[in-house]
Amino acid sequence: MAVAAAEDVPAAAGPWLPILYGSQTGTAQEVAEYLAAKAKRRGYRPWLGAIDAFPLQAFPQAERIVFVVATTGDGEAPDNMKTAWKFLLRKALPQGSLNKLQYAMFGLGDTSYAKYCAAARKLAARLAQLGGTQLVPAGYGDEQCEEGGVWSELDAWSTALWSKLEQLTEGTVAAVADDAPVLEPPVYTVQQQQQASDAKALELFYGHLAPPDAYRSDAEVVSKSSRQLRMPHAARVLVNRRLTHPEHKQDVRHIELDVSGMGKGGAYVAGDVAWVHPENDAAAVTALAQLLQLDQDSTVQIALNQHSSANLTTDAAAAAAADSEQQPVVAEASALDSLLAATALPAQQDLPQYCTVRELLTRYLDITGTPRRAFFEKLSLFAAVPAEREKLLELASPAGAELLHVYCTHERRTYVEVLTDFQSCKLSLERLVELVPRLRPRAFSIASASVQHPGAVHLCVAVVSYKTHYRRDKIGVCSGWLAQLQPDDTVNIWIRKGTSALPADSSTPVIMVGPGTGLAPMRSIIQQRCVQRQQQQQQQQQQPCDTLFFGCRYAAKDYLYSEELQQLVQEQQLALHTAFSRDAPAANGGKVYVQQRIREAGAQLYELIVAQRAHIYVSGSAKQMPEDVRAAFASVLAVHGSMTVAAAEQLLKGLDRAKRYTVEAWS
Ligand SMILES: Cc1cc2nc3c(=O)[nH]c(=O)nc-3n(C[C@H](O)[C@H](O)[C@H](O)COP(=O)(O)OP(=O)(O)OC[C@H]3O[C@@H](n4cnc5c(N)ncnc54)[C@H](O)[C@@H]3O)c2cc1C
Ligand SMILES: Cc1cc2nc3c(=O)[nH]c(=O)nc-3n(C[C@H](O)[C@H](O)[C@H](O)COP(=O)(O)O)c2cc1C
Repeated sequence: MAVAAAEDVPAAAGPWLPILYGSQTGTAQEVAEYLAAKAKRRGYRPWLGAIDAFPLQAFPQAERIVFVVATTGDGEAPDNMKTAWKFLLRKALPQGSLNKLQYAMFGLGDTSYAKYCAAARKLAARLAQLGGTQLVPAGYGDEQCEEGGVWSELDAWSTALWSKLEQLTEGTVAAVADDAPVLEPPVYTVQQQQQASDAKALELFYGHLAPPDAYRSDAEVVSKSSRQLRMPHAARVLVNRRLTHPEHKQDVRHIELDVSGMGKGGAYVAGDVAWVHPENDAAAVTALAQLLQLDQDSTVQIALNQHSSANLTTDAAAAAAADSEQQPVVAEASALDSLLAATALPAQQDLPQYCTVRELLTRYLDITGTPRRAFFEKLSLFAAVPAEREKLLELASPAGAELLHVYCTHERRTYVEVLTDFQSCKLSLERLVELVPRLRPRAFSIASASVQHPGAVHLCVAVVSYKTHYRRDKIGVCSGWLAQLQPDDTVNIWIRKGTSALPADSSTPVIMVGPGTGLAPMRSIIQQRCVQRQQQQQQQQQQPCDTLFFGCRYAAKDYLYSEELQQLVQEQQLALHTAFSRDAPAANGGKVYVQQRIREAGAQLYELIVAQRAHIYVSGSAKQMPEDVRAAFASVLAVHGSMTVAAAEQLLKGLDRAKRYTVEAWS
């Protein structure tokens, strides 16, 4: 197949087509970028960016918007759409506010989660409530689908979308039959340089990467620009020890970090989350450097090319838009084009200006991440050997979806491994930085309370380690990196608010359900409330007002912080219910999980929830656990409150609204 060059692409002067994404870990963003490239080939001017980057005042005037929305947490919206979502939820918005809007919704999710594609579904429902109509029926892509993951649904959905848009634009936009990938001019120029990397250059990278609303990392914040405020704190490792038995398969680490140099002496509150920016494994860095014949010690200058600015927006633009507190004033219809033109912010450099090749591959590029479909399409443009080009195009095609799943997705093949398999694709550094996404920070619930451990953050980290379908060993990028750190090593972190807010009065009971590393935020809550009770000199109650349900496999192997928890029980600070799923089989022969313990403690829990207005916190694996635990609470309320399960579920919904039932879950 011939490779089209950039000149063959219709100039982007046609109608604007906003393609907006809500993406937590980059998949929805990549799908949106893929759609934008296709839209451009049809003659649209894609307005591409995070949903929060789109000017709020353009929503009521926009006639067409394409949304690509992932779901995160326990059915939650990704960070980079939360501001717009809050705005669209406002009760004050009149019913017909979006009467002009025809929208297309593509949701990304995973059917193994209880709330499949919840964010996309909720957004679509709200747009419809405000008067918006669908261009085409919503599409939902499932990570679990073996024939292409979230991309499986995309082809049929996008074919219907282009065809509908073509009808509506009545020939002003080309119906392009040939969607073959196009070689665009490089986004970056990368040159050898003598200058060493410096802290200022890092701001370019971290300015884009920092989680929104992270605590300020430095006490001298007032005179600093917002980019600098987004720099992580370099926390020193104080302790790194294994919590699980040496013979147990799962390595769980207790890590203590010194954050005393952060703003406010590193103070944070129970339930807050640390975001850790990891480093790639040195062996993978060396393998890639050798493959691409790069000198790891050489310094390079990285500069964004001017031409790449058009119609590209970024998450940083989203943050800037959110910061600017835009007012939702209604734009004149005739002004919409100029508003979109003015707000299609130039692409911003999201890599340091100077760094060594080693730093680039170790800290900034996600070279050990798993490439998605669009990468194979782009990579095909660089294959020198026709057979490799054909194979890459096959992997990127709808017909090759199953092959891609077997070869790459399911096997968790990395960028380094794919480039090793397709050796004729000798990517230059400038193309490498364009094709490989940025290495993202990972979240860890803080496992300590700063009132008890001033200036320190404790993490409880399960090291991700597994064998792939073809028995290849895999280690999680961040957890694997954290596990091997030594005292005095540094970890770049931000601290952010979590979802759990504690009751102001520490005598209000809390019920915590934290199996596995779900115990981390519970340890923080318990520590904070113990100190609070001491400070408030509360009298010892007959019953401890903190109740914890903890579960793991074996009491002797992976019972995290067991001594500490038992000590708290002895001191009457904690009522503890444990479930060891692989120890002695339960009477009925099944495994015992926390939800069974919840049912067993039903009478006491009913009293705590209904009479004493307890707050409930659930944390840990996002897959089945939150749903099973919720069902157990519903059953407790139904049995002990003599109500129907439906009435019990309504009661739980009331607790959700009152923020008395919160879930912090991850996969
Ligand atoms: C709010 C929040 C709080 C969190 N708190 C904690 C915490 O306190 N402690 C903690 O340990 N983690 C916590 N996490 C999870 C943490 O952020 C990381 O996701 C986790 O450490 C893995 O990151 P990693 O870089 O090591 O793995 P990655 O390199 O990102 O690999 C993880 C990926 O590997 C794949 N994978 C994992 N296991 C398997 C398997 N068996 N088979 C096939 N594929 C597999 C999956 O695709 C998975 O997404 C939290 C997450 C969130 C969102
Ligand atoms: C921590 C976490 C929580 C998730 N929660 C849900 C969920 O509640 N419902 C769902 O359908 N998918 C859920 N997913 C799956 C993602 O929506 C899916 O993997 C998607 O492709 C991610 O897109 P993104 O990379 O753009 O964020 C979750 C994924 C993760 C990692």
